[in-house]
Amino acid sequence: MSKSNTGLVVALTFVATLGGLLFGYDTAVISGAVGAIDHYFIDPQHLSQTAASTLSGWTISSALFGCVLGSGVAGWISSRLGRKRGLMIAALMFLLGSIGSAVPELGLGVIGRMGPAALTPFICYRILGGMGVGIASMISPLYIAEIAPSEIRGRLVSCNQLAIVVGILLVYFVNWFIQSLGTHAWYLSTAWRVMLASESVPALLFLALLFFVPDTPRWFVMRGRSEEALRQLARVNGEAAAPGILADIERTLAVRSGRLLAFGLPVLAIGILLSVFQQLVGINAVLYYAPLMFRNMGASTNSAFLQTVVVGAANLLFTFVAIACVDRLGRKPLLVIGSSAMAAAMFALGGLFDAHALGLWALVAVVAYIAGFALSWGPVVWVLLAEMFPNSIKSKAMAIAVAAQWLANLFVSWSFKVLDGNGWLNAHFNHGFAYWIYGSMSVLSAAFVLRFVPETKGRTLESIQELWHAHRRGDRLASAEALD
Ligand code: BGC
Repeated sequence: MSKSNTGLVVALTFVATLGGLLFGYDTAVISGAVGAIDHYFIDPQHLSQTAASTLSGWTISSALFGCVLGSGVAGWISSRLGRKRGLMIAALMFLLGSIGSAVPELGLGVIGRMGPAALTPFICYRILGGMGVGIASMISPLYIAEIAPSEIRGRLVSCNQLAIVVGILLVYFVNWFIQSLGTHAWYLSTAWRVMLASESVPALLFLALLFFVPDTPRWFVMRGRSEEALRQLARVNGEAAAPGILADIERTLAVRSGRLLAFGLPVLAIGILLSVFQQLVGINAVLYYAPLMFRNMGASTNSAFLQTVVVGAANLLFTFVAIACVDRLGRKPLLVIGSSAMAAAMFALGGLFDAHALGLWALVAVVAYIAGFALSWGPVVWVLLAEMFPNSIKSKAMAIAVAAQWLANLFVSWSFKVLDGNGWLNAHFNHGFAYWIYGSMSVLSAAFVLRFVPETKGRTLESIQELWHAHRRGDRLASAEALD
């Protein structure tokens, strides 16, 4: 690849990764606003403790439902309207969701006076923002995979994960800074609105930059616009290579109809399981509840915050390790290494809880777990989901796998709270039980990868399609090579 081409690919990747940044930002922004949201929307309702905590839980996690909905429709949007327009729709949703949730009274009543009456519009705006997350979580990696040359595709798609992690970490600091600007009364009345509104800055930047990017060559071919596809391919891959790649894309699209199961059930099932395992290993139980977990370990609120930042920094650092290794070592070795590290760390953490031996070693176990996730399942699942499905079913199949992931995310967050609050389990295992489950899931995830996931390193998207094709024909040689 010539230098100028690398520059173009990197620039396009950067724009798409803003979708990843907003994914991280939107899912984490709410954590800083919880207290004020309860104070404004929930407390004045004078509900019983159980009813109040259920309503508060639903208010905080409502965006996750939007994520499921958004990823569910992202397949249709990205194949009908295009990858670029799909990302623009996501950017608009981020923008409206951010401003609307900051001032849910907009057009309805006096700002700051409506209290509980503004809760329903607040939840609707959070769901809207969540739909933006769901759409971007699918289309950003897809866009990058479809413009990237195969030798660096893993690295470029992993940059989207880096952006997710940066988004999560950034919003911790933004929230902390906004809160530090005024008194507690100011936090309760105004700061939480500023936190939510702050998301409109990256959302606007994302929307504006999207006007300057083209759609992907694969989408142009799907819509019968081969000349535009050729032009894009020539800009990225060079004039000489472009016609060959175009012919490959056209051939793979002609091979089978766009029926979801045209390549058999295994390809779809493997995609869904990869996506679901990324959640079943417990990453979001650890990330969302890190401060709670550190308090269970006996840390004060302040040091719990600090330890949460340590977790964020480990997440960031080890994502760089994945970026450096994913195109050299391959996808499968990274996944298996990560699963092993996560399993060891989670069994150790559960044991430390059980033995009431929390302290520095527990923090070491959490950081080792995060490192294991960040160098493997965090980025690599997105790389695989964006590249493993055949062109003609790619957007539909990827949307289903990503929607399954958001459902699994909801399930893990909900079930962690149930497990962590269970009196019997706590009497016997002192909060340790949930971590043993995540450790067991990590072991299973490694076995699943070794047995079923094909290695896609260095292959063109079109030759990956050939693997499934061969697999379907029962061509043992080709599929054995793929499963190596
Ligand atoms: C996952 C998210 C997770 C994030 C944390 C992403 O790859 O899909 O569920 O919160 O990584 O780093």
